[in-house]
This record gives sequence, structure tokens and C-alpha cells, in this order.
Amino acid sequence: MDAYNISVIGGAGIVGREFLSLLDSRKVPVKRLRLLATARSAGKVVEFRGEKITVEETTEASFTRDDDIVFLSASGAASKQYAPIAQAQGSFVIDDSSAYRMDPAVPLVIPEINAADLEWHQGIVSQPNCTTTPMVLALNPIHRVNPLKRVVVSTYQAVAGAGAAAVEGLRTESAAALAGRHEPSGTQKREIAFNAVPQIDLFAEDGYTKEEIKMANETRKILHAPDVAVSATCVRIPTFFGHAMSVWAEFENPVSPAEARRLMESTPGVRLMDDPGQELYPTPMDVAGTDEVLVGRLRADTSLPGGIAFWTVTDSIRKGAATNVVQVIEEAARRGLIRR
Ligand SMILES: NC(=O)c1ccc[n+]([C@@H]2O[C@H](COP(=O)([O-])OP(=O)(O)OC[C@H]3O[C@@H](n4cnc5c(N)ncnc54)[C@H](OP(=O)(O)O)[C@@H]3O)[C@@H](O)[C@H]2O)c1
Repeated sequence: MDAYNISVIGGAGIVGREFLSLLDSRKVPVKRLRLLATARSAGKVVEFRGEKITVEETTEASFTRDDDIVFLSASGAASKQYAPIAQAQGSFVIDDSSAYRMDPAVPLVIPEINAADLEWHQGIVSQPNCTTTPMVLALNPIHRVNPLKRVVVSTYQAVAGAGAAAVEGLRTESAAALAGRHEPSGTQKREIAFNAVPQIDLFAEDGYTKEEIKMANETRKILHAPDVAVSATCVRIPTFFGHAMSVWAEFENPVSPAEARRLMESTPGVRLMDDPGQELYPTPMDVAGTDEVLVGRLRADTSLPGGIAFWTVTDSIRKGAATNVVQVIEEAARRGLIRR
């Protein structure tokens, strides 16, 4: 793999920092790394492979033809402002926000599922929401042989999915609550310590939140399955790392739990951790800092003959975000899709 000039917008954030650690652990060759953020983090020093890198403030002039790869990991507004500029400079832009996910000119890629969609990129590649990725990774091996028809999902999402400030918010709220005080940090829609909040992002007119709508639309785009019906309920819970979800799925033809297990087990990145006899199933604590989608509680859906129900847990910062980005870079490099 060639060594690239890489710029990370949001390089001081929770996903940006994990991205650096993965570049290192996966031995991605890097020629020159730049870290950009807002004025808040400008001047901070981050060490990467023994080199001290000073975080710079992002401006429209930050983007030059020198950047082979620009990873936008900041916010939807920042992506809308900066992605077209980086794209115009000929950089390979990977966007972690929701800004371009449903843009028909932008591939939305999980390499294990639709790596071939990278071939038609026009400079920007989008990253799925951190709840969509594990769900479709677990469903895809069945969908390939027996098309997915309908999914009902309830999520139990860690605060890390909302960024570094939300992690700190849970820490401070928990300490205050244990001392008998209610001091909402304002990082979630309600106080999150010792609570569960069924609102992530804003509500749309149909009563679903934008997070729930993202799960539905992105699932259809990644699986190339425009008619799949998805109903999601996304809930923030007071865990730090690791998104969990409970999934009920129906396919065109009945599927047995044994067949679903066999197909999931054959999928890279998906691991069954499922033995009710041993009370074995995954929890968020089992995935923090890992790249796997762990699946447990796989069983027949007793409300729908031929359907299945399961529980799955993934680290949102890793496979839900940074790991997938590094895999996209590796795959795009392998296919010769990054400008040199
Ligand atoms: N956390 C997850 O699990 C996850 C998963 C999938 C996708 N994402 C997406 O990834 C992106 C980053 O999320 P995060 O969790 O890493 O958030 P975070 O911890 O809050 O970090 C955000 C970073 O972006 C920078 N930033 C914000 N607005 C900016 C702007 N206008 N210009 C330049 N830099 C800006 C911040 O700068 P300062 O350091 O100066 O404040 C910070 O470094 C978001 O789009 C998020 O939706 C997150």
C-alpha cells in the first residue's frame, strides 16, 4: 500500500483519536498526517508514531492538493462546508457524518458488504451511522441467500456514540447523582445517568427520530434493498462504550435459527457468543476497544413463524466508525481508487 498524506478534520475528537490509533495498529503507511479541529483544540499536541503533531484550526484554506485522503469526522455542518472543497482539490474524502449518506452520488460503504460501491465514488465516500453498521453486518449473510423483508430493532446506545463531551457528561452526572444531586450535563435530551432516553437526534413528523430514520434508509442503501421495511426505536443508555440492540428480522423465506447461525458465523467481523445453557451472550463491556460485531440470544421469533430474533453488541467508535474508515482506505487503496 502507498503512503498517503492524510488530514483528519475532527482529529481531536473521540473518533478522530481512535482513527489515529488504528492507523498505527493496522500499520497503514502514512506520509504526512495533519490534524484539524476548531479553535478550541488548535495548539493541542498529539503524538503519532513518535512525531508530535500540533492540531490546527480548520478553515476553507486548510484544504490543498497535497491531501490524498481527507477524513471528515467533525459534524454534519462541517462536512457540508468542507467536503466539496476537499473533493474539488482531488482528495479522497471519507465523511463520518450524516451529511452525504443518502446522496445518490455518494457510496455508503461497509467493506465486508458493498466494497464494490467504492468503484463509482466521485471523490466522497460516506460512513454509515454507528447503529446501522452492526445490524446490517449481522443480517447481510442471510439477506444474500434469502432477501431481507422486514426488521424491527430497539437500540441501547452508549454515550460514546455522541462524542467526547457526552462521555464526560455521563461521568459528571453519575458522580453528582451518587452524591444525591441531579445535575444534567445537557449532553443528552434528558439527564442520562441512571436513566434511559428514547430520543437520539430530533423528531420527524412521523414520530420517528432522525437516528431511527437513518437506520432505515441506510440499511436499504447498503444492502441494495430499497423495499426492506425497517422500524427502529433508538435509546441512549448510561453505558460509556458499546452499542447494543435487539433485532427481529423477517426474510422472503422462513429461516431457522440454526441456518441463521451458520450464515452469520461465516461472515468476517461477526462472531457468535451465544450459549443460553452457559448463560453466554455479549454485553457492551465485552466489545469496548474491539472490532467485532458480537451476536447472542439468537432464536426463533415466536410472534412470526420463520422469523428470527437476536441481540448484538459493537463498539460504536471502532467498527461503528474508525475501523470501518480504515478498512475503506485499505480497500480503496487496494483497488487503486485513491489519487496519487
Ligand atoms: N462517536 C461515534 O460513535 C460516531 C460514530 C459514527 C459517526 N460519528 C460521527 O463522527 C463525527 C465525529 O464524532 P465524535 O464522536 O468524534 O465527536 P467529538 O468527540 O465531539 O469530536 C468532534 C471533533 O470535531 C471537531 N469539530 C467540530 N466542529 C468542527 C468544525 N466546524 N470544524 C472543524 N472541526 C470541528 C471538534 O473540534 P474541537 O476538538 O476543537 O472541539 C472535535 O475535534 C460526527 O460527525 C459523528 O456524527 C461518530
